[in-house]
Amino acid sequence: MTDEWVAWHRRYDRGGDLLRRLEVVQQRIREALDVARPGPIRAVSLCAGDGRDLLGVLAHHPRARDVRARLVERSPELAARGRRRAAALRLPGVEFVTDDASDTRVLEGAVPADLVLVCGVFGNVTDGDVRSTVRHLPELCAARATVVWTRGRFPPDLTPAIRRWFRASGFSERSFTLVTGTTMSVGTARLATAPRRYRPGVRLFTFLPAAERPSNRSRARRRLGRAPARVSAPRGERARATGIGGVFLRSRDPARLARWYRDRLGVAVEGQVATLTWRSPRAGHRVGHTVWAALADDDRGWGPRRASAMVNYRVRDLEALLPALRREGVNVSPTIEWGFAGKFGWADDPEGNRLELWEPPRRYRPPERPMPME
Ligand SMILES: C[S@@+](CC[C@H](N)C(=O)[O-])C[C@H]1O[C@@H](n2cnc3c(N)ncnc32)[C@H](O)[C@@H]1O
Repeated sequence: MTDEWVAWHRRYDRGGDLLRRLEVVQQRIREALDVARPGPIRAVSLCAGDGRDLLGVLAHHPRARDVRARLVERSPELAARGRRRAAALRLPGVEFVTDDASDTRVLEGAVPADLVLVCGVFGNVTDGDVRSTVRHLPELCAARATVVWTRGRFPPDLTPAIRRWFRASGFSERSFTLVTGTTMSVGTARLATAPRRYRPGVRLFTFLPAAERPSNRSRARRRLGRAPARVSAPRGERARATGIGGVFLRSRDPARLARWYRDRLGVAVEGQVATLTWRSPRAGHRVGHTVWAALADDDRGWGPRRASAMVNYRVRDLEALLPALRREGVNVSPTIEWGFAGKFGWADDPEGNRLELWEPPRRYRPPERPMPME
């Protein structure tokens, strides 16, 4: 019998939303492996499916042979597919276990892990189960472990609460990425406190019956990310970019370049960043911020054409704007990064200049000492 999750996996083969989510998940796995210490890297994946997220990365990653991974998946067919792929890739350190991932007993011997994947789980269980799983994750983690998780942002959006729960459990957020034009999001968190002792037999979650799953309940899933009319009209009355949020220089040695600007031009650079403040002419009590920064060559934002500088424009509704620009033929990044400083997306102008689009949060207190603009 084909189980429902085998059918679900076929969505990957059709391309589209799930494939774009996979690309983000794989990028986050790659980043975790890139910075892993020398020696064995332990990984676990809960409800791993056919494991294509991890295996797809290991197929090309120089640390692949260092990875000792346990992928736990209840569907025998999906686990068997994963095993076949791991064998074809000659990855003896990767094992698929056909079992119940919701009981921590199944992870005995595989944890504490440096990389924990919880992808495609949080949309299928109760909010309470999401919360208690996040609370127990430090028991599965080695020091400074990375957790990669996913959740759809269908209404009511649970991701703000999930991000809070991670912080409350001792993690610091590394990234939170929205797949533009979809409800999908991918978070990564790093354990910032001491790991906790592993306890076997802790029940983490229970998959709900299909009709009760949060991911299926909301008929409004695809609506999020669709541009409302006010931003979809090209050259509309309402400005899409409302100010300059920042100017960035690509640099081989950002600290040195930043020092040059501080010493030669007196820009109040701290580290590699200066925050210049100004007052809104329309609401004089409101202080705005424009950032100057030297960014490393390999920063995510530069895009494939690797421009040498980038202007950041303030916008009001990034999640609506990016899909609208894409429909108008603009080359737009497939994701939005959502950090403490707001939401960020990227696009190219017709001459290939990279631009960053920034939706500041309602309240923003930059970490740097502000420098008033004249
Ligand atoms: C939404 S899919 C996610 C698969 C994979 N992590 C991904 O993101 O592509 C959920 C997977 O969880 C598996 N699953 C559901 N309950 C499980 C459980 N208690 N233990 C292990 N796997 C489970 C399903 O068989 C299915 O493959």
